[in-house]
Amino acid sequence: MSANQRTLSIIKPDAVACNEIGAILSKFEEAGLVIVACKMMHLTEKQAGEFYAVHKERPFFGELVEFMTSGPVLVQVLEGVDAIAKNREVMGATDPSKAEKGTIRNEFAKSVGENAVHGSDAPDTAKTEIAFFFKENEICERT
Ligand code: CMP
Repeated sequence: MSANQRTLSIIKPDAVACNEIGAILSKFEEAGLVIVACKMMHLTEKQAGEFYAVHKERPFFGELVEFMTSGPVLVQVLEGVDAIAKNREVMGATDPSKAEKGTIRNEFAKSVGENAVHGSDAPDTAKTEIAFFFKENEICERT
């Protein structure tokens, strides 16, 4: 168990376009995750490509960058006990057809590509992903 861990969350262009920001943030808060930083932005191709650089050899990379730059996203830092695992549980499986009932991807994702949310998958990636979008002084102490 990791006390007060932080994770990076992105509400993706599909969910922003469908006005689902509030419903998704509520799921995080209901799970005990605390929003300690939040901003809306429209990613450039360079930003999306750098953020998802780990996937650049995958066949879906071009499609992923195109989708992530297709409209605004809401990036947040979520904090809480075991925040990384808790967020992944609330998001559900990457492929919405495999996501459990009640999870964000089960309720809001359209496909494996347009899957409503991104969340960090491990402590080291959470640190890198948070630093990609936020300076330390943009993250607020809430506890
Ligand atoms: P995310 O958690 O943001 O991390 C990488 C993203 O790549 C993933 O969510 C999906 O949106 C996307 N992705 C993964 N697999 C596929 C696929 N087979 N086709 C298209 N996009 C994919």
